[in-house]
Amino acid sequence: MVDPNASEWLKSQQKSSRRHRIIVLTIGILILLGILGGVVYFIKFKSGGTGPDSNSNGSNVGTGNNSSPNKYFTWDKKPVNLTIVPNPNLKNILYGINYGPVNASYPWCTNTLGDVIEDIKIVSQITNRIRLYGMDCHAVEWTLEAINLLKLNITIVPTIWVDNNDTTYQRQYDDFFDVVNKYGVDKIDGVSVGNEVLFRKEIDPKVLYQRIADVRKKINSMGFKKTIPVFTSDLGSNVDQAFTDAVDQVWANIHPYFGGLDSKYAADWSFKFIDENNGYYAKKANKDSVISEIGWPTAGDPHGEAIASIPDLQNFLNTFICAANTKQVKYYYFETLDAPWKTARWTLLEGSWGLFSPEGVLKPTITFPNCN
Ligand SMILES: *[C@@H]1O[C@H](CO)[C@@H](O)[C@H](O)[C@H]1NC(C)=O
Ligand SMILES: *[C@@H]1O[C@H](CO)[C@@H](O)[C@H](O)[C@H]1NC(C)=O
Ligand SMILES: *[C@@H]1O[C@H](CO)[C@@H](O)[C@H](O)[C@H]1NC(C)=O
Ligand SMILES: *[C@@H]1O[C@H](CO)[C@@H](O)[C@H](O)[C@H]1NC(C)=O
Ligand SMILES: *[C@@H]1O[C@H](CO)[C@@H](O)[C@H](O)[C@H]1NC(C)=O
Ligand SMILES: *[C@@H]1O[C@H](CO)[C@@H](O)[C@H](O)[C@H]1NC(C)=O
Repeated sequence: MVDPNASEWLKSQQKSSRRHRIIVLTIGILILLGILGGVVYFIKFKSGGTGPDSNSNGSNVGTGNNSSPNKYFTWDKKPVNLTIVPNPNLKNILYGINYGPVNASYPWCTNTLGDVIEDIKIVSQITNRIRLYGMDCHAVEWTLEAINLLKLNITIVPTIWVDNNDTTYQRQYDDFFDVVNKYGVDKIDGVSVGNEVLFRKEIDPKVLYQRIADVRKKINSMGFKKTIPVFTSDLGSNVDQAFTDAVDQVWANIHPYFGGLDSKYAADWSFKFIDENNGYYAKKANKDSVISEIGWPTAGDPHGEAIASIPDLQNFLNTFICAANTKQVKYYYFETLDAPWKTARWTLLEGSWGLFSPEGVLKPTITFPNCN
């Protein structure tokens, strides 16, 4: 407090010493913030980066441990080796496969680039094409990074996730264009704007079709030499003329399990279903027809005659894969890994469609058919 009776000289001294105090205090606070920032940085990145929405990618660049030859680590800190040791039980016979990294459900992104590398090492032994469900948790960015690090000839189809939350859509849309800016489109076969949006009835189909048009317009304006097809994917039974008009290729999820048939008849049922639904519209419009999901679960409630079990999955693999390859049906198998987070959120059936366990181990007794 400045004494009102003090001389001008004293007043100015008091003011100046107050300024001093303020400067000293400010510097003190800045140092404190610096220490705090360092601690937060240490907890978030150096100690593994497992906090929600962490940007850690499992790279230990900057930790100064040059005695370790491994640059990447899985979520549980196992070092990742970039050499692919072929698994003799796997065969590269699938047209494509659906893939979602484990521990990658926004905002709890506890996955690392190392996890994705390990997954892609496996996927590369069964197919050259990957479809992904969304942009969150670096799923697409790290898949492309893993493909580059492993020097693989694999292409991808990312999805810009669409539900009734505009914030989510904007985040996914921005992330998609960031990835395209960073990696280009050489390894991108197309982009799906949403998956099963019509099935979930969350937004007006007209809004979805407008978003497809917006994404197409923006990607075409970027001047790439290659044209990137833009579409959505939905249940085969939801494909109609308006859907077909809105997309560059007709992508549909076909799930014979929900057709309620014995696995023995599932492949034939699927081919017939395709011809009568999405395939019919695609042919009429002279557009490519692609099966965005087809597969069989190994655990969960039965659906009519359809049983979720490993022998039934084996029946489906034996009857569908080689036949589809011969017929030149384009399909993305559903899916790579079992998904415990889906089991936790919905049902055991939802989480049990993987060919592999969440840890990437082929389900016991499963064999890949001999197509030649
Ligand atoms: C991984 O993280 C490191 C350090 O944060 C960063 O330098 C690098 O660019 C990241 N890589 C990817 C593919 O995000
Ligand atoms: C450095 O890496 C080596 C080999 O992975 C490991 O044994 C060692 O504990 C690491 N050191 C530190 C300080 O992290
Ligand atoms: C990676 O694995 C290969 C094959 O097992 C091995 O030869 C190589 O030494 C390993 N590299 C590292 C850095 O551990
Ligand atoms: C990551 O996934 C594995 C395998 O599903 C699971 O055991 C683990 O608890 C998950 N970790 C985190 C941090 O979510
Ligand atoms: C990569 O795979 C595609 C088919 O998926 C093939 O046409 C192309 O020749 C391959 N490129 C290389 C370098 O192997
Ligand atoms: C939309 O998603 C964001 C996070 O992605 C969340 O914060 C927000 O509450 C959501 N809005 C609605 C209406 O659910």
